[in-house]
Amino acid sequence: MDWNQWTPRERATLCFIVKDGSVLLIRKKRGLGAGKINGPGGKIEPGESALACAVRETLEEVGVRPLEVREHGVLHFQFTDGYSLHCTVFRAGDFAGTPIETDEAVPLWFPVAEIPWEEMWADDRHWLPQALAGGRFQAWFVFEGDTMRSGEVRMLDERSCAGYAGPMNTLPLGPGGLRTSRLAYGCWRIAPSGDPASDLATARRAVHAALEAGYTLFDHADIYCEGRAESVFGEILRESPEIRDRIVLASKCGIRFADQPAGAPYRYDFSAAHLVAQCEQSLRRLGVECVDLYQLHRPDWLMEAEEVAGALEKLRAAGKVREFGVSNFSPAQVTLLQQACSRPLAVNQVEISLTQLASLADGTLDQCQALKITPLAWSPLGGGLLGDGGKDLLPAQQHYQPQRILPVLDEIATARGSTRTAIALAWLLRHPAGIVPLVGSTDPARIRSAVAATSCPLTREEWYRLFTAARGEPLP
Ligand SMILES: NC(=O)c1ccc[n+]([C@@H]2O[C@H](COP(=O)([O-])OP(=O)(O)OC[C@H]3O[C@@H](n4cnc5c(N)ncnc54)[C@H](OP(=O)(O)O)[C@@H]3O)[C@@H](O)[C@H]2O)c1
Repeated sequence: MDWNQWTPRERATLCFIVKDGSVLLIRKKRGLGAGKINGPGGKIEPGESALACAVRETLEEVGVRPLEVREHGVLHFQFTDGYSLHCTVFRAGDFAGTPIETDEAVPLWFPVAEIPWEEMWADDRHWLPQALAGGRFQAWFVFEGDTMRSGEVRMLDERSCAGYAGPMNTLPLGPGGLRTSRLAYGCWRIAPSGDPASDLATARRAVHAALEAGYTLFDHADIYCEGRAESVFGEILRESPEIRDRIVLASKCGIRFADQPAGAPYRYDFSAAHLVAQCEQSLRRLGVECVDLYQLHRPDWLMEAEEVAGALEKLRAAGKVREFGVSNFSPAQVTLLQQACSRPLAVNQVEISLTQLASLADGTLDQCQALKITPLAWSPLGGGLLGDGGKDLLPAQQHYQPQRILPVLDEIATARGSTRTAIALAWLLRHPAGIVPLVGSTDPARIRSAVAATSCPLTREEWYRLFTAARGEPLP
């Protein structure tokens, strides 16, 4: 789309009245977007200014006169059927009159934190939060009917990241040709209860929120929720088969539970027979013919590199896997396996966060850079400790001490108009190895708001302040 050559077919305005923490929205009764929730607004009449239009349309649609009206941004929309629209966005700090239902719209007040994004145009969540917070922006979107095909939002104040959750960039996933969104989604927790209906509802909410927010890589393992995570994801793919082609589907194998078979200990197993059998089982649960990325979950102390390479090649030749990766491998273990494999490994999935710094010092991230292996960061928020608190923490995570990190995260978040979790993820994104955090929340709002990290590049000084706080001691 060449926006430089673009001329809109029509020009319009939107006006959002914000008062006492709530925003006045409308349910539109007719015209473009009838039935959806939006801000009052409409087309600019010949000779009319955008500001005059915003005031007139708000009066006509909900019977109130917006006061303290200020322009906050411009939206450019191109529809694939040829229609195009330029829309100036205003925010009003007060109003006169009482909102009333008219032939055009029903007025609805929403707390700013509870805007019903699901009932609105898909682009709204990418710019409205920061417009309501006082930010200024420019945005460009391509729509096919109701579906947003692409978009870009630029904040005009570069230092402010207030609530921004723009469409995510993608980057190469290893050297083999796959690509991933800047943040990936981890499916470890999507089927927590064991009750099929409740798990499906949890997973559906989380997966669709992630898709709408632009996540394209979905990470599984044969053992997540004892196989239920893959099964429930397979159910979602059966409900919406078009999802399969839009995503990079990843899974893992190599960990075996105790008593499978009876009497066996908990262990790691990279025997060729186990790797092939587990892959086929994952494909069945997911209901797909091929996974895009297959990872060895934890290094098997008894790994025979040649045997593993042979099993991986067999899976690839059978069209069951596109690329391979490893997880929790040391650099030396990566080197050992890589020298036996004919194709380059795509990822090393390791725990990286402000609560787990080992990969910065043990050569893992240096090796990733040198070999163009993508580091996928598991538990990027320390399992929740860098957010609003952890649950189901892994044993090692229970000893983490986020207390010294949280005040620094909060201070930077306040200064940048962002959130603690966005800054914690932005800290990972700033590293030159191209770390892709695996966001593990099942809460749609948290999944969406994490995307703010992708538009909040940290300065060197901010990065080092967090690093030093996380180390708990000054740099040498
Ligand atoms: N390869 C491995 O060995 C390995 C090990 C562990 C994980 N993983 C992968 O990494 C993925 C992510 O791991 P993780 O779930 O531990 O990641 P995480 O993003 O660090 O933690 C997610 C947890 O934090 C909670 N949380 C609390 N406050 C939050 C906030 N403000 N924002 C977001 N989440 C918040 C979430 O609860 P709510 O759900 O209630 O939001 C959820 O329980 C997994 O899904 C899996 O794909 C891999």
